[in-house]
Amino acid sequence: AIEFREIFKFPENYYGKEVIVEGWIRTIRDSKNFGFIELNDGTYMKNVQIVFENILSNFEEVRKFSTGSAITVKGMLEHTPGAKQLFEIKATEITLEAGSDSSYPLQKKRHSFEYLRTIAHLRPRTNTFSAVFRVRSLAAFAIHKFFNERGFVYAHPPIITASDAEGAGEMFKVTSLDLDNLEYVDGKVDYTKDFFGKPSNLTVSGQLEAEIFALAFKNTYTFGPTFRAENSNTTRHASEFWMIEPEIAFADLNDNMQLAEDMIKYIIEYVMENGKEEMEFFNSFVDKELFAKLDNVLNSDFGRITYNEAIEILKKNNDKFDYPVEWGTDIQTEHERYLSEKIFGKPVFVTNYPKEIKAFYMRMNDDNKTVAAMDLLVPSIGELIGGSQREERLELLEKRMDEMGVAKEDLWWYLDLRKYGGVKHSGYGLGFERLIMYLTGMGNIRDVLPFPRTPNNAEF
Ligand code: 4AD
Ligand code: MG
Repeated sequence: AIEFREIFKFPENYYGKEVIVEGWIRTIRDSKNFGFIELNDGTYMKNVQIVFENILSNFEEVRKFSTGSAITVKGMLEHTPGAKQLFEIKATEITLEAGSDSSYPLQKKRHSFEYLRTIAHLRPRTNTFSAVFRVRSLAAFAIHKFFNERGFVYAHPPIITASDAEGAGEMFKVTSLDLDNLEYVDGKVDYTKDFFGKPSNLTVSGQLEAEIFALAFKNTYTFGPTFRAENSNTTRHASEFWMIEPEIAFADLNDNMQLAEDMIKYIIEYVMENGKEEMEFFNSFVDKELFAKLDNVLNSDFGRITYNEAIEILKKNNDKFDYPVEWGTDIQTEHERYLSEKIFGKPVFVTNYPKEIKAFYMRMNDDNKTVAAMDLLVPSIGELIGGSQREERLELLEKRMDEMGVAKEDLWWYLDLRKYGGVKHSGYGLGFERLIMYLTGMGNIRDVLPFPRTPNNAEF
């Protein structure tokens, strides 16, 4: 059989010719002597219309085929200029490959995204989710292409780890212990009996391991799943999400911001170019201003302000917020969106946050109050990227770890890196799902993850 993506690419090669196609029935309608099937074969966003007439030997059978069934069609591909579709297939033979029960939930009417989440095993067969997961796939490829073109080494940090890379304690524990029969020593669980001989967890970030690679390969990146047991039930948080974490040596915060800006523009361009039908779908049905917004990102230099400047701006607008800010406040989504939407109207980097609200590994600034952090805030999402220049000075790093209660003995290898050619280096983490939301205009992280993991939801 010929795949739709091939036919749509070179339709003129097939006009007036006999073709064999296979796919699933999206809709079927018939009258006494003929009928129409909208067929989708999964290889392309669009359907092909199949016309069948009562000259088919199994006409009576075909008109009873149900939505969702898999069929093979042999027929003539006819050029139909002026019609809604550029071509259609006049069937000479239709074979049922696998029928579909009448309980099939994806009938013609539109379903809400909430409902479709309850049938995550079938929603990739809808137009919206077909477009979402195609764009997700394209964007993942674009990311690898971008880093590959720049000579970055793709690193695979462990999924199971004994360290808490963010020091925030939001980890899912991994254990081989029988939780119903725990053994205690001095009132504490005896982890020497656990699989790894000590407590372990799912990784919250591959950054610390990426630093190992950066100090060996200069430029590296990770791209894999990360896990957080934070109980935030928002449209932007998932407990299992994918993160891209580049790490670059001999590079400071400005180099880091430049890389992030180049990367985001590259991905947008790649997806616009290689996912035209999908992006047109989003621009028509999900956010009518999507193209205008993405064009604006491509054609502007991202804003850059310090945390101090951001707080000055926000303070003047405190009456607009649920949570007013002052110096030292960890700015929240409402503030992030205000800055990127109302003040800048484009993505903006905020740098140099107070040390108290950032992780132990960020490089201390000369003021001794702020660290060389950078968050990228974008309209409608808020924080898309979090990153920093890393503290490469051993004494200062140890001091910060002590102050923040991060166990140095667990991270002895991380400290080691500072002793052996531990040059300045920087990196960031980009939340892949938030990027897909940004690219598509989809408003809920549950609708850009094939199988979202959120509080009380691990069904599929
Ligand atoms: O700001 P975060 O926590 O930074 C880090 O993990 C650093 N170790 C990254 C680094 O410097 N290598 O997370 C980075 C990004 C956020 O900006 C956000 O886009 C995304 O990861 N993110 C989440 N996305 C979905 N659900 C969650 N629960 C997320 N938590 C963070
Ligand atoms: Mg962050």
